[in-house]
Amino acid sequence: MLLEIKDLVVRYGNIEALHGISFHVNEGEIVTLIGSNGAGKTTTLHAITRVPPPEGPKIHTGDIRFQGRSIVGVEAHAIVQNCHIALAPEGRHIFGNLTVEENLTLATFSRKDADQVARDYQRVYELFPRLAERRSQRSESLSGGEQQMLAVGRALMTGCKVILLDEPSMGLAPLLMYDMFRTLKKLNEQGMTILLIEQNARLALKFAHRAYVLDTGEIVMEGSAAALTENPEVQKAYLG
Ligand SMILES: Nc1ncnc2c1ncn2[C@@H]1O[C@H](COP(=O)(O)OP(=O)(O)OP(=O)(O)O)[C@@H](O)[C@H]1O
Ligand SMILES: [Mg+2]
Repeated sequence: MLLEIKDLVVRYGNIEALHGISFHVNEGEIVTLIGSNGAGKTTTLHAITRVPPPEGPKIHTGDIRFQGRSIVGVEAHAIVQNCHIALAPEGRHIFGNLTVEENLTLATFSRKDADQVARDYQRVYELFPRLAERRSQRSESLSGGEQQMLAVGRALMTGCKVILLDEPSMGLAPLLMYDMFRTLKKLNEQGMTILLIEQNARLALKFAHRAYVLDTGEIVMEGSAAALTENPEVQKAYLG
């Protein structure tokens, strides 16, 4: 088990957003958390990557374990540097006044493996040719979909082995959405472990190995992506 979330209770001030959720991600898997608006999907990713308050949630009780060790006390930068877990937030969180390439470079600041960094630029530009074409363009002038690609590209540039993706399909036209997911699949086949949250449950279940359904701060169902796709309750609530 690469990443294990155990009985996690998370709060924003006095408001409890996660009521004791448990799930895990094995090495090499694509796992997806599906759920409606406000279910607690982003909160879960922010708790794992320790986005600090006030924007980030506060872990109240429970545990987050990486390779068997608790990482609840670990600071955000160390999650990236030592645990090799990177968050690709929603695309609008990129630095708009920097160019595409500067945004990518920023993600490499603590890396010392220059050769691999060079290969990672190449890999990101191969996976997202649109970013290659626009490498000198200021990021704020990218389309919503291109910003989404940049958010994923930036997570890859950290050199991390586990990426947490917050709605990578957001704002993408249907064809680009499929492109994005095919790209994620390719990354996964190259060895990347992926925890993906998505409102587009149909798409997420098509590409993931396993899935959990999050409903107002609780995990209410889990199983293989194939089994959940066939589940009548899931179909009714999320695949309608
Ligand atoms: N910074 C915050 N302060 C207070 N409450 C918050 C904060 N961020 C999120 N919440 C609340 O926590 C709950 C879960 O929000 P979260 O953003 O995790 O949902 P989500 O599943 O990602 O939804 P969406 O699909 O709309 O992105 C919501 O009720 C939300 O209002
Ligand atoms: Mg969200």
